[in-house]
Amino acid sequence: MTLTVERPATAAPAVPKTSPKDVLRLAKEQQVKIVDLRFVDLPGTWQHFSIPVEELSEGLFSDGIGFDGSSIRGFQHIHESDMLLMPDPTSVFIDPVLEVKTLDLICDVIDPLTRKPYSRDPRYVAKKAEEFLPSTGIADTSFWGPEIEFYIFNSLRFDQGQNFGYYYIDSEEGIWNSGQNGTPNLAHRPRNKEGYFPVPPADKLQDIRSKMVRALIDTGIAVEVHHHEVGTAGQTEIDMRFSTMVEMADRVLKYKYVTKNVAAQNGYVVTFMPKPLFGDNGSGMHTHQSLWKNGSNLFYDRDGYALLSTMARHYIGGLLKHAPAILAFAAPTTNSYRRLVPGYEAPINLVYSMRNRSACVRIPTYFDKPEARRLEFRAPDPSCNPYLSFSACLMAGLDGVINQIEPPTPMDMDLYELEGEAKKRIRQTPGSLEEVLDALDADRDFLMRGDVFTEDLIEAWLVLKRQSAKEVALRPHPYEFYLYSDV
Ligand SMILES: Nc1ncnc2c1ncn2[C@@H]1O[C@H](COP(=O)(O)OP(=O)(O)OP(=O)(O)O)[C@@H](O)[C@H]1O
Ligand SMILES: [Mg+2]
Repeated sequence: MTLTVERPATAAPAVPKTSPKDVLRLAKEQQVKIVDLRFVDLPGTWQHFSIPVEELSEGLFSDGIGFDGSSIRGFQHIHESDMLLMPDPTSVFIDPVLEVKTLDLICDVIDPLTRKPYSRDPRYVAKKAEEFLPSTGIADTSFWGPEIEFYIFNSLRFDQGQNFGYYYIDSEEGIWNSGQNGTPNLAHRPRNKEGYFPVPPADKLQDIRSKMVRALIDTGIAVEVHHHEVGTAGQTEIDMRFSTMVEMADRVLKYKYVTKNVAAQNGYVVTFMPKPLFGDNGSGMHTHQSLWKNGSNLFYDRDGYALLSTMARHYIGGLLKHAPAILAFAAPTTNSYRRLVPGYEAPINLVYSMRNRSACVRIPTYFDKPEARRLEFRAPDPSCNPYLSFSACLMAGLDGVINQIEPPTPMDMDLYELEGEAKKRIRQTPGSLEEVLDALDADRDFLMRGDVFTEDLIEAWLVLKRQSAKEVALRPHPYEFYLYSDV
């Protein structure tokens, strides 16, 4: 749902080119005690270990530091487990949630034998994608604006064994608590799909969101807005200002880290699961994107449909053509397909259209300024690994530009209202994780241009994700007992 306090886009804030020397100076100025080294695993979770500040030296940024790559999901086998981390000085920030003064550094993964970047390091894939773009001559920069939605609950418990399985979510805001007796019930809870966006006391999370925003800003992230989202029981959106690909993917990891920890410190629990609640909106990660060259937005053309250039149209053509394969990275869980189902504003219709939220690709039309011209790909969700999701989107878009792929004619109507033949003519997103993994298996050449994605990484991804799909398929679903226990 849209909250537009958007001002006409100005150029994205420049990423500071911090040197190892600058990092050492910052550590001194800030009286840092601990240095935390972080890297991302294949599914997209930050992993870390710490060194005392006394161990921080300029040499660390050229020598690197060792870790066991065989204990990380999707990384190495035990017989080749020694790996290296290479801290990136430009990623430095002072940790906003830890008690002990800690300086955080995001690292790249290096193979100690070749001292080359590790092919399964997701951050390396995004770096390759970012370097591949200018090599095509098409553009020199891509900008990314992910709108991350998530839920802030009061409790989240779950378990499943041989003979039982359950999850139970609770929230002081959950409409299901309107009938609670016992302690005075102070009421004022958002009804289903009405969380957008009454003031407190219905919105019981204003201050926790503001605390999250301030902590994000402390890490150097430009935040545009925060608000309650449509879902009852704490659905939330905080929007960051768009930025370049690797930088923005780093920020998504920071965002998840800060929001989860600020919540925990205040007695809440955050989940980025795409569909934690039955009967209310799922959490998406609409991904706004645009291509630029020499400081101007190549997606803009004042004579084009929705002020879009031919390049933008072909980029959308590539995105829609390869959408099923992209979703293997951009909506990579079985739970993602409990969100991508008809209804609930789900972005399943593979067409584009201006200011139309029933289309999978929407062209925002708030401002007609060239710099604001972009597309919004609405299917991704926050369970994705942003390094891989952004890279897959870019490679699909570039395939569209290189092959001049025409997207289906834009449809400026409520696509959820369509019926019969008209509805059948609209290509839709696949309905399960297994299907998008099959799509990736069959449609991968566009990803491997410039060796951005490698066979090795795609195979490792397929193995990892097929395993999780199988784990879910092996377990009975609670609702099946409601449906079938009496057959
Ligand atoms: N030229 C651009 N290229 C890429 N991203 C951009 C560009 N201009 C703005 N953005 C980013 O797009 C995102 C827009 O988010 P915003 O919440 O305003 O979108 P919306 O889709 O209109 O809202 P909603 O989905 O909540 O209805 C922000 O992250 C913003 O920084
Ligand atoms: Mg949006």
